[in-house]
Amino acid sequence: MIATPSRPPLVRFVALVEQRLGLHYEEGQWGELVTLLAERSASCGVDRYLEQLASQSSQAEWKALAERLTVGETYFLRHPTQLETLVDQVLPTFLRQTSTVRVLCAGCSTGEEPYSVALLARERGRVDSSRLRILGIDVNPRSIAHARRACYSPWSLRAVPSAMRQQWFQRTPEGFALQPQVRDQVIFEERNLLEEASAFWAPGSFHAILCRNVVLYFPQDVIRKIVARMAQALVPGGYLFMGPSETLRGISEDFELLRGGDAFYYRLKPPAPPTVSVPQAAPVATATPTATVAQRVATPAPMPPPPPAPDGLEGVLQLLEAERYTEAWALLESVPGNSSPKAQLLRAVLHLHAGRLSQAEQLGRQLVTASATEAPAYYLLGLCLEQSGDEAGARGRYAASVRAEPTFALAHLRAGSLARRAGDMVEARVALRMAVSLLPQEKPLHLSLFGGGFGRHGLMQVGLQELQACTEVP
Ligand SMILES: C[S@@+](CC[C@H](N)C(=O)[O-])C[C@H]1O[C@@H](n2cnc3c(N)ncnc32)[C@H](O)[C@@H]1O
Repeated sequence: MIATPSRPPLVRFVALVEQRLGLHYEEGQWGELVTLLAERSASCGVDRYLEQLASQSSQAEWKALAERLTVGETYFLRHPTQLETLVDQVLPTFLRQTSTVRVLCAGCSTGEEPYSVALLARERGRVDSSRLRILGIDVNPRSIAHARRACYSPWSLRAVPSAMRQQWFQRTPEGFALQPQVRDQVIFEERNLLEEASAFWAPGSFHAILCRNVVLYFPQDVIRKIVARMAQALVPGGYLFMGPSETLRGISEDFELLRGGDAFYYRLKPPAPPTVSVPQAAPVATATPTATVAQRVATPAPMPPPPPAPDGLEGVLQLLEAERYTEAWALLESVPGNSSPKAQLLRAVLHLHAGRLSQAEQLGRQLVTASATEAPAYYLLGLCLEQSGDEAGARGRYAASVRAEPTFALAHLRAGSLARRAGDMVEARVALRMAVSLLPQEKPLHLSLFGGGFGRHGLMQVGLQELQACTEVP
């Protein structure tokens, strides 16, 4: 039996984790750390373990902790408007001045983000790939190993249009393997953003840095240090892309804020040439994979602060939509009556996003027995199976979801996509047509729980593209 550590060593452990990995835990979130500390120190005792952690010779243990504590949620073509801005506007501008452009993905997780840059550059045709260098870094060694393997589950590819999937990925028994010419274009390194490494952050090292959904849970002073390092490593007028819930307000004066469509991003001040030339007063386009960048503006705009989430389950839903999962989890745990079926459904979805498939499945199986949650619970079980690579099983769950609630547009959409992928074109067309016709009335709760950051409009585009892909096949 492993003893639970007392408060003083726990406080020290929390401080060390924050100091070394940047991860900040409020006291209400210490549960995970209590278990981890007890487990990791079981063989040598808590005091000795903490001494070792604080010493210089604890590299291996920090790697193990990074694997356990970091959240690696990511997928191909996440926040697509930012990626399009990068490959359509930012990189071509630099390529007019220099022979190669260098992009850093800081906190790249399992590689979907840097590979998305490589793929989009090829797809959009405005960047010569032989002149594009992409580097992905992450503190989690297991994520970096996965990134180098470049083989992905259908879940990782959920936002990739089917034509792109067919062109650039090959189906293998292990999953979807990225074509070697794209895979080899990205280099990966295991690296902690908090570590001093002056050679790595040398001035002018990168033209653009993506550091998206990484510093969300870092304390302000740590973010300040990291952003200063990135500013130093960028070429003059270089670009920084952060996640939609991350802001430089109060963090750095080195950047100006730009806006392209629904995407915000930063450029190093002063805005010396090279600059991005874009129309001055074009309308803001809605983010879809096919929207043209010429429709977008790049004028400085005030950064909207992350919206304060209201209390209660509504607040949890808003945080979920904004992909602020740790905050969503913390709020959910503090909401009174958080064992209601709706709260359990939210908990299951958060488990799924954190990759805890068995917990998500367990809750899903309980929730299918209540009529109020039957349809979304079947849908959730379908997502779990998709994530574990069982597409046939997932189709069965989506069918059950539709039987329980025939107007559930998202269930029709997933069922249709999987049917198309399995070659059942008649079934696919029927399901996708249902999805497209039902999406305008889809319940807001379903969109918040399962929309994956796509709004109603984005999902409609996905449905229409899938439908088109069905009709293109003889
Ligand atoms: C939520 S993922 C974001 C992945 C990708 N940037 C995206 O937006 O899809 C956050 C990643 O940041 C990494 N990370 C967290 N702390 C880090 C640190 N101190 N140094 C480097 N990477 C870190 C995690 O391991 C995780 O893979």
